[in-house]
Amino acid sequence: MFDTGELLSNYDARDIIEKDKRHLWHHLLQHKIFESQDPKIFVEGKGARVRDIAGNEYLDGASGGVWCVNVGYGRESMAKVVYDQLLRLPFYAGVAGTVPAAEFADRLMGLMPGLDRVFFSNSGSEANEKAFKMVRQLAHHTGSGKYKVVFRDRDYHGTTLGCLAATGQPERRKEYGPFPEGFVEMPHALCYRCPFGLTYPDCGVKCAHAVEDVIEKEGPDTVGAVILEPITAGGGVIPPVAEYYPIVREICDKYDVILIMDEVVCGFGRTGTMFGYEHYDVVPDIVTMAKGMASSYAPISATAVRSGIFERFLDDSDARYGYFRDISTYGGCTGGFAAALENLRIIEDEDLVENSRVVGAHLNERLREFSDHKHVGDVRGRGLFAGVELVADKASKAPVGEDVMGAVMARITAQGVLVGKTTRSFQELNNTINIAPPLIVTKADVDEIVNAVKVGIEEGCKAVLG
Ligand SMILES: Cc1ncc(COP(=O)(O)O)c(C=O)c1O
Repeated sequence: MFDTGELLSNYDARDIIEKDKRHLWHHLLQHKIFESQDPKIFVEGKGARVRDIAGNEYLDGASGGVWCVNVGYGRESMAKVVYDQLLRLPFYAGVAGTVPAAEFADRLMGLMPGLDRVFFSNSGSEANEKAFKMVRQLAHHTGSGKYKVVFRDRDYHGTTLGCLAATGQPERRKEYGPFPEGFVEMPHALCYRCPFGLTYPDCGVKCAHAVEDVIEKEGPDTVGAVILEPITAGGGVIPPVAEYYPIVREICDKYDVILIMDEVVCGFGRTGTMFGYEHYDVVPDIVTMAKGMASSYAPISATAVRSGIFERFLDDSDARYGYFRDISTYGGCTGGFAAALENLRIIEDEDLVENSRVVGAHLNERLREFSDHKHVGDVRGRGLFAGVELVADKASKAPVGEDVMGAVMARITAQGVLVGKTTRSFQELNNTINIAPPLIVTKADVDEIVNAVKVGIEEGCKAVLG
């Protein structure tokens, strides 16, 4: 796959590792571990495979670790369009337009019937913050007082304080409070651990109707929006049942509440449709996106809104404050738009959404083969996105501990496959392996991932649990 170590020999690996250990603050990691081991440092990638500084090659079942390199590594055309654009004009602030910004806005809105205006920024968190600010400003405009945002247990919406306030993962929030006021939690939609102790379909999809309970409890005059991941990602890969979003949509309409879909992970083909909400026959009012938008060749994110929302910011009766007074410096980097345009071309020309659907069905089918394993509690997913929840005991559904997860993950990695897991999300439920390879993978690649996961679960569980 990779040329014979030529690139690697350009580095003094030990020197790089020491520099990393001396100065780099890694994300989401306890650095104490580096007293006894080296950090993983990646050097190059091609297709769905990456190579680290020690020369180890991996099939990347996590698309860059956080599900974002959707079109795969080493795309010359992506590099070229960004290069060309940067030479022509690297940046102009978003108060003005640029050619690739206008082109991409037009292409993107063409993919999202019902939505027609988009605000660009540069991370998923930022895209969600923009959505919250729109909701709050509208509450002021109309004098409605509808500023609160309902979010769902287990969903993640980003790292900033507003996004963490809207995140249903206690371990991500712990020690970072106090948070901004006005964010209210509703129950999650995971059937395997139904928050109401019910069983689908007899449950009547109570988890969706719970939105109404929260709105009523908080006061319909105070709730402005609901934010949901179409398929919960980092919270354990949770696709709600088919009726879920139509019910939520109906409730939002009834109470004049804005429905925000956080497509940061699901957007751009991850789940076998261009956007995750397309599985559910709903049109959201606001859609946020990032990661797969330019497959992370350049940072870019967006907050797209339905016709009607933007128009409310055209009211010039209060000329000083009536419009959306927001800016994102790097929302004006033209490299991001150029990359996003080329990313979209690749996704469409290579039919990667369809590949995600077809090869993703194979992934989910193959993973279900080991549902019978005594430590596999649940297998769930959609498209090239799947989760395998591990339990110590199937009857009680007691989750395995982090020691088991560590042993399983180490064994999967040792076989040359990278996958992810729920990390610092919940007190006891960091027990789901998640799999999200680049959308270019073949069935044979998927088999390689599944086989490694299978061996990892068998050997890792046995080593710790016996
Ligand atoms: C669903 C979801 N929303 C928002 C974010 C935040 O995106 P970013 O890390 O680009 O700020 C993430 C990141 O993983 C995410 O999974």
